[in-house]
Amino acid sequence: MELGSALQFLDNKSILVTGGTGFLAKIFVEKILRVQPNVKKLYLLVRAADHKSAIHRLHHEIVGKDLFRNLKKKCGTNFSSFISQKITVIPGDLTHQDLGLHDSDLLQLLCKELDVLLNLAATTNFDERYDVALGLNTLGAKYVVDFAKKCAKLQVLVHVSTAYVSGERSGLIVENSYRMGETLNGVSGLDVNIEKQVVEDQLHLLRLQGASDKDITVAMKDLGIQRARRYGWPNTYVFTKAMGEMMVGELKDIIPAVIIRPTIVTSTYKEPFPGWVEGIRTIDSLAVGYAKGKLTFFLGDLEAIVDVIPADMVVNAIIVAMIAEARHQQPQTIYQVGSSIRNPLRYSNLQDYGFRYFTKNPWINKDGKPVIVSKVTVMNSMDSFQRYMAFRYLLLLKGLELANAAFCHFFQGVYSNLNRKINWVMRLVDIYRPYLFFNATFDDLNTEKLRMTARTSLVENDMLYFDPKSIDWEDYFMNIHIPGIVKYIFK
Ligand SMILES: NC(=O)c1ccc[n+]([C@@H]2O[C@H](COP(=O)([O-])OP(=O)(O)OC[C@H]3O[C@@H](n4cnc5c(N)ncnc54)[C@H](OP(=O)(O)O)[C@@H]3O)[C@@H](O)[C@H]2O)c1
Repeated sequence: MELGSALQFLDNKSILVTGGTGFLAKIFVEKILRVQPNVKKLYLLVRAADHKSAIHRLHHEIVGKDLFRNLKKKCGTNFSSFISQKITVIPGDLTHQDLGLHDSDLLQLLCKELDVLLNLAATTNFDERYDVALGLNTLGAKYVVDFAKKCAKLQVLVHVSTAYVSGERSGLIVENSYRMGETLNGVSGLDVNIEKQVVEDQLHLLRLQGASDKDITVAMKDLGIQRARRYGWPNTYVFTKAMGEMMVGELKDIIPAVIIRPTIVTSTYKEPFPGWVEGIRTIDSLAVGYAKGKLTFFLGDLEAIVDVIPADMVVNAIIVAMIAEARHQQPQTIYQVGSSIRNPLRYSNLQDYGFRYFTKNPWINKDGKPVIVSKVTVMNSMDSFQRYMAFRYLLLLKGLELANAAFCHFFQGVYSNLNRKINWVMRLVDIYRPYLFFNATFDDLNTEKLRMTARTSLVENDMLYFDPKSIDWEDYFMNIHIPGIVKYIFK
């Protein structure tokens, strides 16, 4: 297979990106505009009430970000005109047919003009309401495929999923696709239409009962976890993403489509500059809590592999996979993009980097004082965590409950507060537990084949790097990622 020139491929292309305000979408958009200014058009689907608010989001949440500073410098005073010439924002909503577009002329234009459709929209909250996650991650994926089928000259649909659709399996996780209705625990009966019905019935019942918005949210979150676990997935996010993949596989028909499964995406490694990141994501919440002195213990296996991959490598993999699929349709279309096989990193490495970095560069708290970090207590099993909680908090809670009863609810406020916090911690642990004790590696044979093909036949192979072997994790975390999250995420 020959890949040829990526810049030639992108020349004069019309590309629609869903989830335009998202983390990966911005990095994709910046890269394309910087390396191939002759792209014809980037259509960015953003959630907005109308075109005016979509434009506002484009300027404030996309091109106004520091991420675009190199491009801004390169364009000089022409930046604004370049952006308005190349980017068209479209107010839409993926939870509706035709991407929620109301403008029929625009719809027709897109169907006639689009070369590439990149689906990056998702709700990435593990504990999302089931109606929201099913509507976007599963049915949204279906609506994108339905729409792609109407696009007369579409060369490729790229659907971005997550490597964690694999659930809690251990060992080597291969780049296999899911059959419609397949489950992780062998329980039969998984059917997206039934899931839709379950959601509608539950919402109807809650409304009949006069449930408050808050109660509906809690019930919908619980329903998601319950349905996910019924079929063997640990949480709502990965369950609905897995069903999204099933939708793409089942419905794509003859459309050239690829599925990209990134692992945990971290800040940019090199481009447009090292260390750009946005939003608190999984492992970064640990770093923030630790540096601020709020994380006093770690629950998990320090020797477990934590599979991370810088965002610019994910975007480069997306671009190369897109070109490979458009130029030569492949029988195998799933690419896992991570580091656990080629360059494994362990939680113990993260602990070490965090300790060294924040000892040397302590976080200065609100009172202007440096926060002194120390090595955190590690609990390497759920048993030791439960013992710790029982000893430290649950006994106290029990005592407060008794005192409260004896003193006419005098301690009700303190009791409720502590109870709420404990329940919150227990729920977080319940949801994140599979990842803290994760005992698997993600095979990336298809991705490696793509890298090898790029090495031998992609003209711009150096520009589209996505080999995790080239990363020195110590250098990346100490000099790029941690400074990046301190700069862009810490508040
Ligand atoms: N980041 C990671 O660590 C990671 C790891 C593995 C896989 N992934 C996958 O990579 C993809 C991109 O992730 P990301 O981190 O860039 O996501 P992100 O920053 O959370 O962005 C999600 C995007 O989806 C949009 N969206 C939400 N609801 C929508 C709706 N109803 N209609 C249209 N758009 C909607 C959001 O718009 P608003 O701004 O309006 O909310 C936002 O632009 C996702 O599919 C995710 O599952 C990410």
